[in-house]
Amino acid sequence: MWFIILSLVLIVPNALSEFRFDNYALYKIILKDVDQVNFLKSLRDSDARFDFWNDPVALSSYVNVLTSPKDRNEFENILKSKDVEFEISTENIQDAIDREVIKTYTRGNIKSMTWDGYYNLSSINAWIDDLAATYPEVVEVITGGTTYEDRAIKGLKISHGEGRRAIFLEGGIHSREWISPATVTYITNELLTNDNEDIKAAAQGFDWYIFPVTNPDGYIWSFENARMWRKNRRPVGEHVGVDLNRNWDNNWMVVGASSNPARDDYAGTAPFSEPETKSLSEFLASIGDKIDMYLSFHSYGQMLLIPFGNTTAPLANYHDARNIGARGMGALSVKYGTLYRTGTIAETICK
Ligand SMILES: *[C@@H]1O[C@H](CO)[C@@H](O)[C@H](O)[C@H]1NC(C)=O
Ligand SMILES: *[C@@H]1O[C@H](CO)[C@@H](O)[C@H](O)[C@H]1NC(C)=O
Ligand SMILES: [Zn+2]
Repeated sequence: MWFIILSLVLIVPNALSEFRFDNYALYKIILKDVDQVNFLKSLRDSDARFDFWNDPVALSSYVNVLTSPKDRNEFENILKSKDVEFEISTENIQDAIDREVIKTYTRGNIKSMTWDGYYNLSSINAWIDDLAATYPEVVEVITGGTTYEDRAIKGLKISHGEGRRAIFLEGGIHSREWISPATVTYITNELLTNDNEDIKAAAQGFDWYIFPVTNPDGYIWSFENARMWRKNRRPVGEHVGVDLNRNWDNNWMVVGASSNPARDDYAGTAPFSEPETKSLSEFLASIGDKIDMYLSFHSYGQMLLIPFGNTTAPLANYHDARNIGARGMGALSVKYGTLYRTGTIAETICK
């Protein structure tokens, strides 16, 4: 059973960027009918200047699009020519970036990791090492693979003994989605520290393989250079980066991906053309027959997506997957009031 969680919060952080987003505007576009949805889809696919933060789909009531100051007029004219309703939700996205909080982690003090701000890659990696030192019986540091810039994809395994089935958690494959690693580290912390009987049972009943940042090069780039960086950092011709989430050897380039290296959803030259996906997939294959559940965390949108992404035909255990997912999302809404939709891509995104 494989799930993708789209996490909801977007709190944008304090990049020390050489590349700034001054006066970039975030538009909120209200889609009224299928024609407008299709128009926005074709605009997204044909014009890389407009950065779509979520996909134009009829079911979601709006899409957010980031536009540079020089393209704003043209963008508004395009929308007006099709009678598409829009409002400007943020005049200057750099203000929001400047308000993001980047926190300091103190090596050797796991209590200095909190969840009211974001941490850089070396802090997250140091925290993982500190967890292994604090819980030596239970936590093991693992390496899921290697990046283009030769960094380790560092993670941890939580295991309370031999013979357990496995759950795999993966975050940060799209580097700019900082809430994703933060969510994965939050869950990790709960599994290790929460005294609730249900949480302890989940923590102890499975082997947990957890990789908070599966695109380390991109994550660093999003901190130090371009806050909105989504891909890895491998140069491809005059462009840089492959969308690692579009590079897996499963229905490669079938839907929702691009063959244009200028784009943010560029799928790469071939399935597993990227060191990150190739090495992580080899790690996965080495434990593959143990895995009961795989969760990939993204932002943003409030959806739990279950397989398959390429067809409306359900997977063999579709009803179980959907029921488990719906119960999980129900528990979330009871606790936080957030409503997540559960289903396949065909059911949730394309409707
Ligand atoms: C990451 O953050 C820590 C503090 O939490 C800081 O000491 C360190 O210099 C930062 N690393 C980089 C590469 O910016
Ligand atoms: C969808 O992907 C699954 C998993 O790779 C594959 O078994 C199935 O044949 C694909 N279906 C279609 C319609 O492409
Ligand atoms: Zn994503």
